[in-house]
Amino acid sequence: MTMRNGLFKGRSISVVNDLSVDEQRYLYRKARELKAALQAGKAADEFRIADSDYSSYLVFLENSTRTRESFRNAAEFHGTRVNMFDSATSSFAKNESVTDTFKMLIGYAPESCFVVRSKLEGTCTWLAHYLGPWAERQGYMRPSFINAGDGKHEHPTQEFLDEFSFLEQLGWNDQSIHLALVGDLYHGRTVHSKADGLRVFGTVKVDLVAPPELAMPPFYEDAMKRNGYTVRIFASLDEYLSTGDTAPIWYFTRLQLERMGESVLEKAPRLRKAVTFRRDMLDRVPVSARFYHPLPRDRLAPTVPTWLDDTPLNGWDGQSANGYYTRAVEMAMLAGRIGDDFGGKGRAPTAPEEAFVMEAPVGAGRKPEYKVGIKPVETGIVIDHIASGRPLAEIWDRIDKIRRVLGLNLRSSHGVFHSNSGPEVFKGIVSIPDLPAFGEKELKKLGAVSPGCSINMIDGHHVMKKYRLGMPPRIYDFDEISCKNENCLSHPKHEEHIEAHFVRKMGNGGGDTYVCRWCEREHQYSEIWTI
Ligand code: CP
Repeated sequence: MTMRNGLFKGRSISVVNDLSVDEQRYLYRKARELKAALQAGKAADEFRIADSDYSSYLVFLENSTRTRESFRNAAEFHGTRVNMFDSATSSFAKNESVTDTFKMLIGYAPESCFVVRSKLEGTCTWLAHYLGPWAERQGYMRPSFINAGDGKHEHPTQEFLDEFSFLEQLGWNDQSIHLALVGDLYHGRTVHSKADGLRVFGTVKVDLVAPPELAMPPFYEDAMKRNGYTVRIFASLDEYLSTGDTAPIWYFTRLQLERMGESVLEKAPRLRKAVTFRRDMLDRVPVSARFYHPLPRDRLAPTVPTWLDDTPLNGWDGQSANGYYTRAVEMAMLAGRIGDDFGGKGRAPTAPEEAFVMEAPVGAGRKPEYKVGIKPVETGIVIDHIASGRPLAEIWDRIDKIRRVLGLNLRSSHGVFHSNSGPEVFKGIVSIPDLPAFGEKELKKLGAVSPGCSINMIDGHHVMKKYRLGMPPRIYDFDEISCKNENCLSHPKHEEHIEAHFVRKMGNGGGDTYVCRWCEREHQYSEIWTI
């Protein structure tokens, strides 16, 4: 039995950021060592898990050649048990949930690494979050999960093999990179992962080449800019080449027709033309340039034509082979076989959550202030500053939403009033006498449905306490919220009964938003509610 107590044992890789930048660099260093050893005909036993009780469980709920076969071969290299889950003949056909299916599989494999590809975004993040602690409670070893691609979301192991290939081309110099991303940047998860994966380089310049219909979603473009990358945008290869300043590394993707709606699909020939390389472009590409592609290419209409295969531009064949070495190293890390010699920085600890309820000063004299409705409020709660400064229709809408989210079907009143902030500034007020309970749950709901409002605790006509509410750092465990990404595993239409869970993301000038914990789709706070 080999020693398996490495630092990464039992971890999961659901998204690129599940490994810190230093951990990613460690992965590339070890993959380089493994590749050199195997190419020199060495046994490379120091990498092998060599434990037939350890299971590599390949669960591919969507088609794959490269990812599945490179993981399967890596699992064989490691001498582990190799299980290929056949989803087509599984009890998914009997409406079994994803969570139940994996619970069963964990029971059959005492210690395991699940490699999961799914159309549904966030699947791996959910499984690692829920089933890791569940397995430990059942007395099993905590399983590892590796995301082998989830819908349009992420494909972290493809990202790691891509970065490894770029580093290889650059002679392992990670000081800077200039890269062009060409093709379907909207649907392609491998280009989305670049927003995080390229952080292994000191300075990053990214050229995004795609027609507007296939442009990089703002979420990822913003992430690139936040990470300090220089981003340039071009609508076609012709426009890009006309600049005379093109990258030495080009990363093509195919048009992901299977993920497109009808309206985009009918434009496919024109869109493809904008990002397909032609012979007359050859003399405008830098001499040392190399092209990459996550593959597969569409054999009928490849964006990287086959006449390029035997030219020095072909970086994609070596790139796909690198998937074997990087994935073998990922498996060795998560099984604890390697990791003892990692000397860098791990992931940053989760920052403590900021308070979202701030006590505000109560005015001197504490006079009764609130006379909403026909009677002044004697005892109860007054929600004030609702949508303060917003247009009247929005204030009324917010009042309605507050009432429905908090279930305020009781004796109470509300209205829209002038604010003290200015003559044409309005705000909403809801007053509720004798409210039976108003605890943390209600505060969270209120903060998430109407950030910026205030709560006044009234007793004997006096404001006894006053609180200003911000957006809570996390929102979960409420029936009234759901992720609005139809491809998210937690979306109600999939009936997987997975809790919606949102994490506040600090805004970049445009206000804070909520990000789905599973699929990472960003939502305005008003979007998360289902009522
Ligand atoms: N690049 C990639 O993920 O290929 P497969 O779909 O064949 O796994």
